[in-house]
Amino acid sequence: MSSEALNTTVDLGEKRGAFYVLEENKRLSESKIWSLLEQYYENASISAWNEIPFYPTSNPFIAETYAELILAFLRDYFSKLDLSKPVYIVEMAAGSGCFSFYLMKELSRLLEYFSALKQVDLRYVMADFTVNNVRSWMANEKLRPFAERGLLHFGLFRPETDKAIRKCALRELESEGDESVDLTVSSDEILLEAGMSTNPVIAIANYFFDSIKQDAFQIHSNQLKEVLQSFHYVPNPKAPDLLKFDDLIKSESCRDASFDYYGDSRLNAVLKSYQAEYENASILFPLGAFNCISNLLEISDNSLVLLSSDKGFVDAAYIDGLREQPFLPHHGVFSYSVNYDAIDRFFTELGGQTMLTSDDNLSIATALSILVKDQQTTSLEQTNYVFGERVDRHNTCNYLYFLQDLLTEVEASKSEKSSEILRACMGYIQLCNYDPVVFCLAAPRIYMSLEGLNVLQEKRLLEIIDAVRDNFYSVQQQYDVFYWIGRIYYGLNRVEPALAAFSDSLLTFGASSSSTYYMAACYEVKKDFESALRYYNDTLELEPGCKFTLEGISRVKTAITSPAEKKANPS
Ligand SMILES: C[S@@+](CC[C@H](N)C(=O)[O-])C[C@H]1O[C@@H](n2cnc3c(N)ncnc32)[C@H](O)[C@@H]1O
Repeated sequence: MSSEALNTTVDLGEKRGAFYVLEENKRLSESKIWSLLEQYYENASISAWNEIPFYPTSNPFIAETYAELILAFLRDYFSKLDLSKPVYIVEMAAGSGCFSFYLMKELSRLLEYFSALKQVDLRYVMADFTVNNVRSWMANEKLRPFAERGLLHFGLFRPETDKAIRKCALRELESEGDESVDLTVSSDEILLEAGMSTNPVIAIANYFFDSIKQDAFQIHSNQLKEVLQSFHYVPNPKAPDLLKFDDLIKSESCRDASFDYYGDSRLNAVLKSYQAEYENASILFPLGAFNCISNLLEISDNSLVLLSSDKGFVDAAYIDGLREQPFLPHHGVFSYSVNYDAIDRFFTELGGQTMLTSDDNLSIATALSILVKDQQTTSLEQTNYVFGERVDRHNTCNYLYFLQDLLTEVEASKSEKSSEILRACMGYIQLCNYDPVVFCLAAPRIYMSLEGLNVLQEKRLLEIIDAVRDNFYSVQQQYDVFYWIGRIYYGLNRVEPALAAFSDSLLTFGASSSSTYYMAACYEVKKDFESALRYYNDTLELEPGCKFTLEGISRVKTAITSPAEKKANPS
């Protein structure tokens, strides 16, 4: 099926002039868009992945990190595990199944290092809400060996509403005497429900919470408002009954709401915690994710480890202040970013904890939430270590930018690519543990890409510069890290730190026309024309005849002699 248009039974609204109104002033979680999205997945099933990007959460490097994290948790929790009972890993909304394949492979490989963990009866449950996806996994020969070994099990699960995972099995259909065998997927038995697991359940949700129900709120001067959505569209004249998410136009309105908004006091506590911290705020509230978590807590008897990666955010910058929440159609579907900060607050409220990635510049955020029995007496040392080092500091997401950069190399000069180039360069530096040599190699491209930098990227870039500077060790003489730090500060219009970096460059690496030229340029920006002239003259001595230096000298001489005509800074 083509994902271009939705084949739907949902009422597509009433015609009003040139527009169709899908709905008006609806709570976001009650909007029709969620049923439409479900129908898309139901109809498209496995062919959805011809259109929807899945590579960022379905590659061997993210799977390796997840495997390390799961094994780290099992090592931390080992003494409390009941080895006579299985440990379930439940992957919700497993989609293409590609991630499951890599993760089972990595778990099997890495388990070889830990003899004690081999005693654990691991059961990997691939689950989705549509039987069409399950059927395609059952037919997949790459997955079959894991099922034959007893590691892999297939489940039907709609985590927002189900309190049990149903087991899927292939059953022969009664056939009328011919030789062909028809198979159907039956799901009569329960695979997992409350009371069946004495060990923590490890649940995985990748690219899932951004595809299920959310609510939206604002806080205006400490007063809670619910944000209501209206959607309209112009029908395609050739196919008036078909609707594409791309065609939807959203508008928002607000009305007063009470902080006892939900029937669930845990959710209200999360909402109230925002009121305590923000005078004005815009809050995406991941209601669907919270419903999934509530059901998983029941299924696991309140012993849950939830590992999730998604288009999401953690930083207060996404919450502070008033703004609309973007409706983002893409590749035939749509998504709303996941507010992992709210998920963190929810688990904290229950006495659990969440580890979060800290770099919101990356397209994917990862969260590991843990609520286990004996939470207080459980040391999560190994888990913290792997999360901190591998997931956050190293962050395999950076490999994606690296690949993206390789793919966009040819068009590198196009200014619209500058943000991608910048991300890729920051990614290289992070993956190479803030190596000053890698920084110097990437710095010219960073400098060229500074235009259009947003506040969060700038914050991250400054953190990277600090980490790189801290790694400088004076034998790396051919890589003048201070010069490049100075250039980037200069490009960011941070003249004082730029001057400090250029003078470090001169002190550490000796006189260079590049550093003196930019020192002069910095002084010119500061309108300290005497100092600028001194450094331009030094530059000319080091590089006689340089056209740019001569132009600089002429500019500052003019400025000195006619102060009223102070010139603009040089390029
Ligand atoms: C964007 S895909 C993500 C697939 C996979 N986890 C990945 O990372 O590529 C979203 C998945 O959610 C499933 N899904 C959509 N709505 C759902 C719902 N309401 N309940 C359970 N699963 C749902 C779809 O079948 C699909 O597999």
